[in-house]
Amino acid sequence: MSEFNEQSTTADVIAGISLTGKVAVVTGASAGLGIETARVLAGAGATVIMLARDPEKLAPVLVQLREENPAAQLDSAILDLADLESVRSCAAQLLPRYPRVDLLINNAGVMACPLGRTAQGFEMQFGTNHLGHFLFTGLLLPALIAAAQGSDSHSRVVSLSSAGHKLSAVDFDDPNYEHTDYDKWQAYGRAKTANALFAVALDQRFAGRGVRAVSVHPGVIMTELSRHMSPEDFEDLASAAPPGEAMVFKSVEQGAATSVWAATSPELENKGGCYLENCNIAAPFVEGADGGVMDHALDPAQAARLWELSEQLVGQTIQ
Ligand SMILES: NC(=O)c1ccc[n+]([C@@H]2O[C@H](COP(=O)([O-])OP(=O)(O)OC[C@H]3O[C@@H](n4cnc5c(N)ncnc54)[C@H](OP(=O)(O)O)[C@@H]3O)[C@@H](O)[C@H]2O)c1
Repeated sequence: MSEFNEQSTTADVIAGISLTGKVAVVTGASAGLGIETARVLAGAGATVIMLARDPEKLAPVLVQLREENPAAQLDSAILDLADLESVRSCAAQLLPRYPRVDLLINNAGVMACPLGRTAQGFEMQFGTNHLGHFLFTGLLLPALIAAAQGSDSHSRVVSLSSAGHKLSAVDFDDPNYEHTDYDKWQAYGRAKTANALFAVALDQRFAGRGVRAVSVHPGVIMTELSRHMSPEDFEDLASAAPPGEAMVFKSVEQGAATSVWAATSPELENKGGCYLENCNIAAPFVEGADGGVMDHALDPAQAARLWELSEQLVGQTIQ
């Protein structure tokens, strides 16, 4: 167990850690946990590239972070994960500017939206949360590998998964709801399982070249992620609390703490392929217990199968 827990904040986990000389890339940096993650990594001295799909939404965030910390080394670029052309163009812009990338936080996400399709026709949650990040990471791998070479530490890729992974395994027969009736929560579950399985396969394939990968459940935090939730969804969420108890929400600083811990903790230096929560490696899920990770999110065979499927869908071999 680490010294941290569900109440730990980003300030707690970054204390004493210097990221001077490191380059970090954060997706979904225009809202919620992404802003906090970027703020804290920059505060520790990293050059942080904040990626967002909406430049007008990101602009005031950059102004605010620069006001708060004039020494912060912040850069930005546009990345729409729901369009593989945007993914390719963002990676093509970043690689010459940043031939070495030490930390990649695949934080962006969409939850429980109505059935929608990405530019290439993938189901919106699977396409945005998983396939967009799969291709983006694959294209940035030369920079992640380069950063590890000649360094005494690994590069790290952090995938934001969720306890929502418990809602569903990946459906390899119909990953994009072409034949199955759409269920917005099942689709979120599939996508978040895919985020965890991606970390398993990425770590297995690239640890030998200096890139380690983990996935994270940040906790339950009030952010814009709930934008598609109905009043009934909020009632269901409240009733998920133990009888007689109110649902416990984390602050944004507590929510982003596990991502920052995943990216920077010396305790994870030679570890990867794991799913983290509350600034620790999660235990296997047990019925009735709080937290934990289900087998279907860590299964190496499903991770390998998802990797192959993802390569086919995005039309790119990642090696
Ligand atoms: N909050 C929670 O309770 C919770 C729990 C478990 C897991 N998570 C995970 O944590 C991550 C961060 O969530 P959050 O709570 O910070 O949510 P949020 O406030 O809604 O922020 C999500 C970020 O993702 C971006 N995004 C959405 N679709 C995108 C696309 N097509 N291309 C590029 N960026 C896109 C959003 O951009 P816009 O600003 O343009 O919308 C925003 O910057 C997500 O992966 C989520 O699944 C959160």
